[in-house]
Amino acid sequence: MTSPDQLDKALNKAAEKTEVKGYFETTGFERWNRIYSDSTEVNRVQRNIRIGHQKTVDNVLAWLQEQGNLGGRSFCDAGCGVGSLSLPLAQLGASTIAASDLSEAMAAEAARRAEAAGIPSEQLQFSASDLESLQGTYDTVICLDVFIHYPQQPAEDMVRHLASMAEQHLLVSFAPYTPLLAALKSIGQLFPGPSKTTRAYTLREDGIVAAAAEAGFKPVRRSLNKAPFYFSRLIAFERG
Ligand SMILES: C[S@@+](CC[C@H](N)C(=O)[O-])C[C@H]1O[C@@H](n2cnc3c(N)ncnc32)[C@H](O)[C@@H]1O
Repeated sequence: MTSPDQLDKALNKAAEKTEVKGYFETTGFERWNRIYSDSTEVNRVQRNIRIGHQKTVDNVLAWLQEQGNLGGRSFCDAGCGVGSLSLPLAQLGASTIAASDLSEAMAAEAARRAEAAGIPSEQLQFSASDLESLQGTYDTVICLDVFIHYPQQPAEDMVRHLASMAEQHLLVSFAPYTPLLAALKSIGQLFPGPSKTTRAYTLREDGIVAAAAEAGFKPVRRSLNKAPFYFSRLIAFERG
């Protein structure tokens, strides 16, 4: 039977997801679509987030290429945004990519960008979906900078879920918990993007690694990608 506490948590989680979705369909879409573009209409903070995020994307692409030919591999880009990872991944020859985002506006913009870049829809498909509803199995599952919307326990549950969909590789990035970051966040200096309208969570890395281990994955690469106002831990896991 569901306890009142469990019910309360589930209701809070659903309410928070509705809020995040609403944000990324409207003002969040406008803001992040500009950040993840060449637009000059960004302020200093947004430009720094763009620079930091690009480091994360470049890191992922470099690690994947080190693993060899991307042809013959299937990818899931979970919480794909406007396709900042999926598009270059397709251009580097990934066989199939299933990319999805909670926000229909973000997924539609990603599809528009892919079409404009001449990427065939048989190679790269976009859909609107939350992470919880994702199914199927892929050689590699990647989830970048989405866990900012997940508290620790739900993030660990999600790592297990994404790992269950990954045959070989799982890559995740998140804002790591550090006492310094916690202090900055509490005085409102951090996460000026989503935190204006949605909550932002930092995560304990050992919990994320332990959740992946429970699902049979071990960390093989780690990096910390930084720019002012951007701080993201990237971990690549392998099955085995
Ligand atoms: C900061 S953006 C990162 C986008 C993309 N992964 C990237 O690195 O370019 C966060 C994205 O997560 C999506 N998102 C937030 N919560 C989600 C959820 N529960 N399921 C799927 N996507 C979600 C948002 O709509 C947004 O597009």
